[in-house]
Amino acid sequence: MFALFKPLFFLQCFSLLSVRVSGQTNEVVFKEGVKIEVIELPSECSQKSKKGDLVNAHYDGYLAEDNTKFYCSRSEQDGHPKWFVLGVGQVIKGLDISMMDMCPGEKRKVTIPPTLAYGIHGSGKIPPNATLIFEIELFAVTKGPRSVEAFKNIDLDNDRKLSRDELNHYLTEEFLRDGKPRDRSVHDQILQDIFQKNDLDEDGFISAKEYNVYQHDEL
Ligand SMILES: *[C@@H]1O[C@H](CO)[C@@H](O)[C@H](O)[C@H]1NC(C)=O
Repeated sequence: MFALFKPLFFLQCFSLLSVRVSGQTNEVVFKEGVKIEVIELPSECSQKSKKGDLVNAHYDGYLAEDNTKFYCSRSEQDGHPKWFVLGVGQVIKGLDISMMDMCPGEKRKVTIPPTLAYGIHGSGKIPPNATLIFEIELFAVTKGPRSVEAFKNIDLDNDRKLSRDELNHYLTEEFLRDGKPRDRSVHDQILQDIFQKNDLDEDGFISAKEYNVYQHDEL
């Protein structure tokens, strides 16, 4: 079984690579040291990716020096596209830079210098000082878990800080929405945990600044 599946995954990765060599000229831009080539742009763009957005993408990684593939998200785990928050260091710096302002459905080929990837030491399959090439296909862009919209929804009295009551109300609504009854004590525990992790100055409120950890939008 295993032997059957492996080649299939390689084929899936390979088909994207062939897009790259099909000879059309694409728009190329340089951004903060990353070379970004747009391979495919959807005719309609619903929402461009921004810092703090939750994005869903496939990306395959190659070493620039010999085109060895060192990573293919299509064959990792179940081959599901990866979810991550953009622009906050959940992926290497070069990917954070190269995936900004990207449309769902867009494909890019990006070339990332070692300083924005794994540096002078490398890591695992990545040798020292390696320039990396990624082929990225973006599927979805959604507002991050800590968007301005979410904050405003919770902040019922619009005083730009979240009280225990406001969060309590919000949690109750959320739990009602997902239809799973929860024990009162679980509820209190979550609330306490939220304040412990977020109320850094311990004034009993979560301020806009404490909430907006990704600093992606003006609150
Ligand atoms: C990597 O680059 C650094 C800085 O340019 C250099 O000092 C180092 O020798 C390089 N390492 C290798 C293994 O090439």
